[in-house]
Amino acid sequence: MLRGPRVSLRPVERSQIPKLQTWFSQYELMRVLNPAAIRLVNLEAEEAWFDAMMKDTNQYLFAIHAGGELVGTTSLMQVNGKNRTATLGISIADPAARGHGYGSETLDLLLEFGFLELNLNRIQLYVMEFNPDARRLYERVGFKLDGTLRQSVFREGKYWDEHVLSMLRAEYQPDPHWGIKGANA
Ligand SMILES: CC(C)(COP(=O)(O)OP(=O)(O)OC[C@H]1O[C@@H](n2cnc3c(N)ncnc32)[C@H](O)[C@@H]1OP(=O)(O)O)[C@@H](O)C(=O)NCCC(=O)NCCS
Repeated sequence: MLRGPRVSLRPVERSQIPKLQTWFSQYELMRVLNPAAIRLVNLEAEEAWFDAMMKDTNQYLFAIHAGGELVGTTSLMQVNGKNRTATLGISIADPAARGHGYGSETLDLLLEFGFLELNLNRIQLYVMEFNPDARRLYERVGFKLDGTLRQSVFREGKYWDEHVLSMLRAEYQPDPHWGIKGANA
């Protein structure tokens, strides 16, 4: 488990799948997560996703807990041992849990895990043009814009850009007060 002052990142338990399915079957959440055609997931599909994640040794999936409650998931995907890269994803899936600083804290923990435990050199992510809140958060924690995939997403009758942001190990500034070792919650 990775602990910050208010957030902990834990394994996803099979018993949590029904709760995740209620969130990941919402169009409002799915529209910002994946540029592919939206498939709202039923329980069977969510279980199949969980089983695939458990088998994939190039992914690190965490349940985000805040105030003792599951509020979402986050992951480092496509971890590449040769190039020391990974792609980050995050969902504070419970709408009521957004805007409390949990996303920022989750990113701090995941960056610490990625850079100081997995020994990654580059962590990248994709964010859609119509998700400026997420982009602001990423830039606030130190991600930099690599470039823009122009008109790469067709959604709601329009083409949208998708931005690629990244952070390098040399740019990462660990918080000396808490994290994997400095747990206080
Ligand atoms: C994008 C997302 C991860 C942000 O997570 P969050 O927990 O809402 O983010 P935070 O609360 O850390 O920051 C959001 C705002 O709340 C503010 N905030 C409120 N209380 C705060 C606190 N106690 N500590 C820190 N920030 C706080 C932040 O300053 C920030 O303000 P800003 O947007 O004006 O910069 C979350 O909204 C989410 O999962 N959305 C749906 C899925 C999604 O878009 N995923 C990303 C796809 S690329």
